[in-house]
Amino acid sequence: MISQPYALAGVMGWPVAHSRSPILHNYWIEKYGLLGAYVQLPVAPGKLEAAIAGLPALGFKGCNITIPYKVDAIQFMHEVDANVRRMGAMNTIVVQPDGSLKGFNNDGFGYIQSLLDAKPDWRADTGPVTVLGAGGAARAVVLSLADRGAKEIRLINRTFDKAQALATEFGGPVKALPWSERHAALADVALLVNTTSQGMHGNPPLELTLDALPKHALVSDVIYVPLETLLLSAARQRGNATVNGLGMLLNQARPAFHAWFGVLPDITPELRRAIEATL
Ligand code: ATR
Repeated sequence: MISQPYALAGVMGWPVAHSRSPILHNYWIEKYGLLGAYVQLPVAPGKLEAAIAGLPALGFKGCNITIPYKVDAIQFMHEVDANVRRMGAMNTIVVQPDGSLKGFNNDGFGYIQSLLDAKPDWRADTGPVTVLGAGGAARAVVLSLADRGAKEIRLINRTFDKAQALATEFGGPVKALPWSERHAALADVALLVNTTSQGMHGNPPLELTLDALPKHALVSDVIYVPLETLLLSAARQRGNATVNGLGMLLNQARPAFHAWFGVLPDITPELRRAIEATL
């Protein structure tokens, strides 16, 4: 009998205890009858290079990279995909058959898929998009929307200079606007996205008046704790369709799981419920 090799993957960050990725990947390992495990890899500051270098020796297929190492990890890769180069951040390492390390960023893919899961006929080019925030999550969201053909992306951040820098770097449809214009910048939009930390558990809610937002606009929040932020509940109550951040987490995990374990996994209602039960 040929025994199936034991495959290891994990999530590397500091801290990592809050991550829902172990529940997600271990659910899939069990569901598909695979031999392996997805483990927490808490890596203290200063130890990132040694930890990453150890992955092939320990037999890891790869790992996710989370806060605060999404930028720092890039320098330790032998190769990175085009998204990592353009975003300047990565979230996945794949140990290649020759032991070399390749970095990927699947966050933008996950974000777009989460919109399509909620609204299969969603298109990026049906009207202006307003994106709030200019951090790491915003970079993935803005680039993926531009790639999908968004014609006008109004990028609005509390610190205007960061929005301006992103608009200059990405160019094309991305225009920076001052934070004070966030309410008025909802006029005519087809999609509103919150990528700021405002509304996340432990933070104050996002201060945003939705009066100018068309009722047909889709409203999405990359936050998934809580599942429904005050922004999303306000939008839902006035009749807008909403998408929470859980779909982005679930969808970014699919290509990584495929690369590590050889199976492209499904996102089922049961899986969603299993994760939601921990939120
Ligand atoms: P992430 O990687 O999750 O995007 P980040 O890079 O720390 O995290 O970005 C956090 C985002 O939330 C930024 O856009 C930040 O705005 P600043 O660039 O001005 O810091 C935004 N943010 C944080 N606190 C905020 C607040 N009180 N009001 C509005 N935006 C806030």
